Amino acid sequence: MLKYDAGQREWTNWLVRETCFDPNHQGKAEAIFSLGNGYMGLRSATDERYVGQIRNWFVAGTFNKFHENEVTELPNVADVTELQILINGETFSLEKGETRHYSRELNLKTGELTRDIVWESPKGGTFQLQFKRFVSLSNLHVVASKVSIKPLDCEADVQIVSGINGQWTNSGAQHFTEGEKRIFDKTYIQMTSTTTESGIDFVTHTVHQWSLDGSRLEPELRQTMGRRKVGIEAKVNVPMGSCLEMEKISSVHTSRDLIYGKRDYSLDFMRNAALSEFKQEASKGYDQLFYESANVWENTWSAYNIEIDSASGYDQLAIRFAIYHLVIMTPAHDNRMGIGAKGLSGEGYKGHSFWDTEIFILPFFIYSNPVVARSLLEYRYQGLEGARRKARENGFEGAMYPWEAGWIEDGEVTPVWGDVDIVTGEQTKIWSGFIEQHITADIAYAVWHYVQSTGDLEFMEQYGYEIIFDTATFWASRLEWDEEADRYHINQVVGPDEYKEHVDNNAFTNHMAHFNMQLAIQYYEKLQQERPDLLQHLENKLNLAAAREQWNKLHQLYLPEPNNLGIIPQDDTYLGKKIIDLTPYKNQTKVASIFSDYNLDQVGEMQISKQADIMMLFFLLENKFEPAVKRANYDYYEPKTLHDSSLSLSTHSILASDFGDRKLAYDLFLRATEIDLGPNMHSSDAGIHSASLAGVWKCVVMGFAGVRMLDGQLHLNPKLPESWNKLKFPLYWHNHRLLITLTPEDVLIEADTEESISLHVLGQKVNVHQRIQIKM
Ligand code: BGC
Repeated sequence: MLKYDAGQREWTNWLVRETCFDPNHQGKAEAIFSLGNGYMGLRSATDERYVGQIRNWFVAGTFNKFHENEVTELPNVADVTELQILINGETFSLEKGETRHYSRELNLKTGELTRDIVWESPKGGTFQLQFKRFVSLSNLHVVASKVSIKPLDCEADVQIVSGINGQWTNSGAQHFTEGEKRIFDKTYIQMTSTTTESGIDFVTHTVHQWSLDGSRLEPELRQTMGRRKVGIEAKVNVPMGSCLEMEKISSVHTSRDLIYGKRDYSLDFMRNAALSEFKQEASKGYDQLFYESANVWENTWSAYNIEIDSASGYDQLAIRFAIYHLVIMTPAHDNRMGIGAKGLSGEGYKGHSFWDTEIFILPFFIYSNPVVARSLLEYRYQGLEGARRKARENGFEGAMYPWEAGWIEDGEVTPVWGDVDIVTGEQTKIWSGFIEQHITADIAYAVWHYVQSTGDLEFMEQYGYEIIFDTATFWASRLEWDEEADRYHINQVVGPDEYKEHVDNNAFTNHMAHFNMQLAIQYYEKLQQERPDLLQHLENKLNLAAAREQWNKLHQLYLPEPNNLGIIPQDDTYLGKKIIDLTPYKNQTKVASIFSDYNLDQVGEMQISKQADIMMLFFLLENKFEPAVKRANYDYYEPKTLHDSSLSLSTHSILASDFGDRKLAYDLFLRATEIDLGPNMHSSDAGIHSASLAGVWKCVVMGFAGVRMLDGQLHLNPKLPESWNKLKFPLYWHNHRLLITLTPEDVLIEADTEESISLHVLGQKVNVHQRIQIKM
């Protein structure tokens, strides 16, 4: 069970609490309470071991392929969080004895996870235990934990088994060859290991410090080493009412770290450098390290915090929860890395990046921290070679981005086989890596969105034009001429609605491809006028003159338009398919319940959508469609949409805001927040949903506040939910930070500059000189 109003006073709406432990619901808290800093992500499995728990510790970008028939994934680093605790000979476990008190809570403000327990052992005796843990935001390599044990009504012989455990795998796939294990000075425990295929070296350290009632203790230690395991066992006698405390400070470094990317790298060099850095950090102890990390969190929150004054404190908590995860999932330190669809919080989607980043997550960074947005786009730039390879391998030209991306050079890494087909009993083939092609246009769109909102022309010169030109070239080579219809088609694709495979002319894909080619032509012509030197440079690299000719095909590309009922066909056959009563699936408690009754082929023959498809098109290319068309299509498609992808609800909420349906927009926002934070105790088992969390931010800023970039201009069309009295958020626009405060009565805009900034508020152009207040 989760509690949302646990925080009092300064912690109001900053805490998420789990109020009881259920071994069947471990995945939920492990994922939603996960810790991280973008360099690493640590799933919050309990210190003690239970059946069904999943321990995950990932370092961003360290992809490895277990076998040639599999795709790359982020490997599980040797674990440092597990503790075996024996009290008076009894192993501490919440499945035994009596739990008199239990609470586990994540503090979103400081990034600390705390578990408080009063436990009565089956052997007698009551013990108070507290576990604390955080991943440092100030030193990206450091994880720290602390356990305290206090016997309340007896004395206790406490034995703790701890160390580094490399026996963990990714669901059975062991990604490491065993390296060396060593304990320096009977104190500093070290393990090295190397990924089997990508050859990335890891060095992991851990150290323990002990105290009794605050006084340093040197307990009797036994050093242990086993297969892929190294550690210590300690025994301490704790008098009744006294408190034993053990701090465990750990670190991980890998040869993928930017500083080791040099040619003179050697494992020894990294090991020594990491050890000396580790000793220095560990000597600070838990409290000091926590203080340093919490300070960085404080600065982070002053940059990102959104204030919501609502009848329900949950709304404030939910946006903080979303931003917390956006911070910890993002490898902002390294532009060779993208964001995983589950962040770094679980094995789901193997750490791979999807269109989730460009279409859902990037807007958060464009408007809250453009430097990070740029880094994420640079990751895509560095992925161009893999995208060009994919195009060539499929018989196309230009750059065809992978549907799933991992390491920059690897190109397409989508797995080929998925879940069971309930009819055939075989594995369902995943077609996305072959034919879900809209991602190529989504990335071009994201580049455009970024530059229009930031004005970062230097990025365009270095990276942006190349992405836009080469993606347009892909589309030009991808179009298929239809003699009969006398126009180009895009056949055999999967659109955003993945319940329809091998469809012709998915409206989203065609419109986005058209947009991509049109954008390339516009930028080409702009460079012809303004930067012929740069165009020449790109010409030499990309054979642009020939490409430019090809882009003209866009004028003959078929763009699905509304039919006489105002409905845009999602693809050539969707509207002719069977309609069934979806009520049971619309009311489902677990997503994708339709697959208990039908297989994907059968679902493909019915008017059933997995997620926002045309709705997404309306959001991205908003100027192209009339409001009445949007509403008619919403009313047609939403009842057929199961929202089985976590990307769906937030998009629908934003459109509902656009229609001015505040109640619907707010209801959908709440449902979007509940995907991870809500009471469904299995919704996040494979990890949190990155795009959905960013979608929560989008509901608030792009939906309720109505922030949009249209034709290069900033627009604000606030439509606060009825129960909100105030919404305050930061917004970057062309290198300036605006602070926007909305109430039902007025709009206040404060700027960090003397320069005048122009934007449109409720359709009226206004110029902001430092501060402007407008009545609604
Ligand atoms: C969705 C995709 C999404 C992926 C990763 C799938 O279920 O249909 O749109 O990119 O999950 O989040």
